[in-house]
Amino acid sequence: MTILITGGAGFIGSNFVLDWLAQSDETIVNVDKLTYAGNLQNLASLNADPRHVFVHGDIGDGAMMDSMLALHKPRAIVNFAAESHVDRSIRGPGDFIQTNIVGTFNLLESARAYWSHLDADTKAAFRFLHVSTDEVYGSLACGDAAFTETHRYEPNSPYSASKAASDHLVRAYHHTYGLPVLTTNCSNNYGPFHFPEKLIPLMIVNALAGKPLPVYGDGQQIRDWLYVKDHCSAIRRVLEAGRLGETYNIGGWNEMPNLDIVLTVCTLLDELRPRKDGKLYSEQISFVADRPGHDRRYAIDARKMEHALGWKPTESFDTGIRMTVLWYLDNQDWVTNVQSGAYREWLSQHYGEKVDA
Ligand code: NAD
Ligand code: DAU
Repeated sequence: MTILITGGAGFIGSNFVLDWLAQSDETIVNVDKLTYAGNLQNLASLNADPRHVFVHGDIGDGAMMDSMLALHKPRAIVNFAAESHVDRSIRGPGDFIQTNIVGTFNLLESARAYWSHLDADTKAAFRFLHVSTDEVYGSLACGDAAFTETHRYEPNSPYSASKAASDHLVRAYHHTYGLPVLTTNCSNNYGPFHFPEKLIPLMIVNALAGKPLPVYGDGQQIRDWLYVKDHCSAIRRVLEAGRLGETYNIGGWNEMPNLDIVLTVCTLLDELRPRKDGKLYSEQISFVADRPGHDRRYAIDARKMEHALGWKPTESFDTGIRMTVLWYLDNQDWVTNVQSGAYREWLSQHYGEKVDA
C-alpha cells in the first residue's frame, strides 16, 4: 500500500512524513516543488529509507501528477502543498493564486482521472484529503463563539481567500463527481522544522541572534496554537475514519495573544539559554506596524474531531512550546542552513539539479 502526499518537504508535511514512517511501513510518495519553504534536510534521516519516495514536482503539472499516480497507485492523496505565509500573500498574491487555487484544481483533475479508472473496491477505499486552515472563516471578536465546521467562510487575506477557493473546489469535486474527499481546517501549528518567517520560530531565532522581536500592532491578536505532531495525528485519524465529503476543524484549545506567546518564548530562553549580558530576552521586543487587514482572533471548536473521531491533542502549550524551543536550541545547524540559503543547494548537490527560486 502507498499514499501520495504533496508539500511533504515543508513544515507540516515533513513532520507528517516522519510521523507516518515512525508508525507504519506503508510507502509515502512525496511530491514537492521545493519552493523557498521546502527543505529536504527536514527528511535527511530518511535518505536511505526506501519507504520514502521523493518527487521534485509541481501539483499544477497535470502530466507529471498523472504519471506519478499511474506509477505508484496510491490508495490516498494528502494535499499539504501550498503557499502558506500571510505576509508574503500581501506582498505578492500571484503565487498563492497559482498554487493554492490553480494547483489544487489541477491536482483534483489528476486525482479524478486516476480514481475514475480504479476497480470498484479500490475506488471505494480511495481518499483525497485536503489540508486547509481556520483562516478561511475570517476574524472573530472577543467573546464570539469559536469556529465550528458550519461557520460561514469570510477570508480576509489573499492567502486565506486562496485556501477558501481551494476548499470550495474540493467540496465541488465531491458533490459533482463523487470524488471521495475529506477536508481539515486547522489552527496555528508550531514545532520542529517551522520556517523562521512565522511568529514562533522567528522569535526564537531572532532572540538568540540578539535581534529585535517584531510584534505587529498591539500584540493582542489571538491565535489558537497546536503542536504540529498533534496536527499530524489528527490528519491520520481523519484519513482513517473521516466521513466522505465532510470537513473537520482541528485545534489545540489554546487561544493566546501574540504578545503572551512572545513573552513565553523569552521566558523559556531566559531559563534555557540566558543572555550573556544578564538581561532578559523580553527587552528585545519591538512593536512594529501592524499587518494590513490583520485578523484579530481565531478560535477553533474541535468538538467534532473529539466526538466523531475520538481525537484530542496530546500536548498542552506548556509542553509543546518547551519541546519546540529545545529543538531550535539543539538544531542550530538547521537554522544556519535555512538563513544562509545552504538548504537550497541540497538538490543540486544530491541530484545535480538547479532549484528555481
Ligand atoms: P510550508 O509553507 O511550510 O510548506 C509548503 C510546502 O509545499 C513546501 O515544501 C513547498 O515547497 C511545497 N509547495 C509549494 N507550492 C507547491 C506546488 N505548486 N507543488 C508542490 N509543492 C509545493 O507550509 P506548512 O505550514 O507546512 O502548511 C502545509 C499546509 O497546511 C498548507 O496547505 C497550509 O495552508 C496548511 N495549514 C498550515 C498551518 C500552519 O500553522 N502552518 C495551519 C493550518 C493549515
Ligand atoms: O491559522 C492557521 C494559519 O496560521 C495557517 O493557515 C498559516 O499557513 C500560518 O502561517 C499561520 O498564519 P498566521 O498569520 O496566524 O501565522 P504567523 O506566524 O505569520 O503570525 C502569527 C501571528 O503573529 C499573527 O497574528 C501575526 C503575528 N506576527 C507574525 C510575525 C511573523 C507578529 O506579530 N510578528 C511577526 O514578525
